[in-house]
Amino acid sequence: MIADASTDDLAATPVAADTVGLLEGIASTRSIRRYRNEPIPDDVLRDICFAASRAPTGSNRQPFRLIVLTDGEVATEAKRLVADAAARLWRTKRNDDGYEGGSGVEDTSPKARMARSMDEHIAGLATVPALILPVLLRYREPTETEGSSIYPAMQNLLLAARGRGYGGLVAMWHLPVEAQLRELLQIPDAAMMAATVTIGKPVGGHGPVRRRPLDHFVFDGPWGSTPAWAIDPPGTRHTSAGPPDAAGRTRSGTET
Ligand SMILES: Cc1cc2nc3c(=O)[nH]c(=O)nc-3n(C[C@H](O)[C@H](O)[C@H](O)COP(=O)(O)O)c2cc1C
Repeated sequence: MIADASTDDLAATPVAADTVGLLEGIASTRSIRRYRNEPIPDDVLRDICFAASRAPTGSNRQPFRLIVLTDGEVATEAKRLVADAAARLWRTKRNDDGYEGGSGVEDTSPKARMARSMDEHIAGLATVPALILPVLLRYREPTETEGSSIYPAMQNLLLAARGRGYGGLVAMWHLPVEAQLRELLQIPDAAMMAATVTIGKPVGGHGPVRRRPLDHFVFDGPWGSTPAWAIDPPGTRHTSAGPPDAAGRTRSGTET
């Protein structure tokens, strides 16, 4: 299928067959920040947005819309706004979080790799293949839990992108330029801009998913009681990542 496939063709085209099993895809999907400079074919955009539409929402209201920006004047301007905002946010975070110090000085450390990947991400944002803005249509006063009817759809976007050989990143790059984006894209005042999602064909390979082990976050009764079955499957590695929790632990049983 090519990028300018007619809508008739697409209406007759089923969602593509999986290239990766569901559980494997869930366990291995991670943030992809560097993309090849290639347009995303319409059938891929269709499949990943379709996956988003299948997500659960409270009362099945489906109270969100996706603004999918690829090319053209409006998309170019939106990407430029987001790229400028992201560059400012990342510059500040790079300094504040000391990416130049500690393990950041070792070229192969996760910190140094993260900084390089972010630098490249920011440099490519203005021409990212697809910038998707998920927007929540509020039907009542804002509540603390309203995001729960849009964020599952965003995870489905990332999973479906992985299933089609693409990758993506959920980020908050829109925040400093939300007013400009609202005006440019005529987003209703009452709607909540939930995130930016960038999608493209990944450049190069990407590292492993780093997550806490199961016995660190699954309880089966009172807070902190760990069930015997909370054991990571064989071969699980990189379980010491992430900022320390409230008890100062970064991995099971380890005090930092
Ligand atoms: C709600 C949310 C907001 C995020 N915001 C940003 C962001 O502003 N910038 C960014 O680079 N990554 C952002 N991320 C990506 C996370 O940093 C990333 O998922 C996390 O570090 C784990 O890395 P991994 O997805 O590669 O395994 C966000 C993720 C989520 C779910």
